Amino acid sequence: MLQGRNLLSPDDFTPEEFLEVIQLAREIYKSPKDFAHICDGKILGALFFEPSTRTRLSFEAAMTRLGGGVIGFSEAGSSSVSKGESLIDTIRTVGSYVDVIAMRHPKEGAASLASEYSYVPIINAGDGGHQHPTQTLTDLVTIMESKGTLENMTIGFCGDLKFGRTVHSLIRTMTMFKGNKFVLISPKELELPKYWKTVVLDNQNIEYREVERLEDVLGDLDILYMTRVQKERFFNEAEYIRLKDSYILDNKKMELAKKDMIVLHPLPRVNEIALEMDKDPRAWYFKQVKYGMFARMALISKLLGVK
Ligand code: CP
Repeated sequence: MLQGRNLLSPDDFTPEEFLEVIQLAREIYKSPKDFAHICDGKILGALFFEPSTRTRLSFEAAMTRLGGGVIGFSEAGSSSVSKGESLIDTIRTVGSYVDVIAMRHPKEGAASLASEYSYVPIINAGDGGHQHPTQTLTDLVTIMESKGTLENMTIGFCGDLKFGRTVHSLIRTMTMFKGNKFVLISPKELELPKYWKTVVLDNQNIEYREVERLEDVLGDLDILYMTRVQKERFFNEAEYIRLKDSYILDNKKMELAKKDMIVLHPLPRVNEIALEMDKDPRAWYFKQVKYGMFARMALISKLLGVK
């Protein structure tokens, strides 16, 4: 039963619950009209303390397409946070007006803190370099649509594995499904933090390897998850400039990949996928964007307990 629950990290859901949400997302995708009024009279609070295009707008579109309304802000500066109001008081206030809150915040753990004081379910729409579980739902729907399963795949994560919250959430979630193996492709400076390797991978005896060159492993992968180097999380601009173009996926490199490998990217993209790649049928990142809205429609419906 997902009604009334929070989604702060993948550990809040069981694999069966993830599958339940994915299944509903696919039903909504096939027949959106059947779901057009299930949230009539309900309101989503969309509190974005950090920039977003896809997550915020897909949440807004999702609630609107379910018949509900949306209130919120897209930058902290337009709220009373700019006058010094705390996150806790903001959440208590907004929770008095809405039925569910989706929030993005630059601080790791902010959504978790909010959930301790909220009167309504909290959805973590990204907290610093920590987690982004609704991007994971988006990724899972896309994988299910393209591969028909969430099991027995070799998944390569490439780019900024240190600050990439989408990477952290998807790795954790894919370890819940059997037979998945991971290839971690990054420069030393941006490798997956030790916590994720020890607690999420080593402690569960999950098979993985770490490499620096994408070309060396591209042919082994069923899924390649490209990521942007997260400029906003660097303390040193020179370091960002040195690392930002570590990987650029293009048509030439894709000659090394399997014919049925899919390329995912949470977006936004900067330079890490060449524009020429968009025509490759293995490029699934814009389909992924579309599935994100259906994934969020399904999540909102489940947390609100509407049918
Ligand atoms: N994938 C994602 O979180 O994109 P936005 O930052 O545009 O929301």
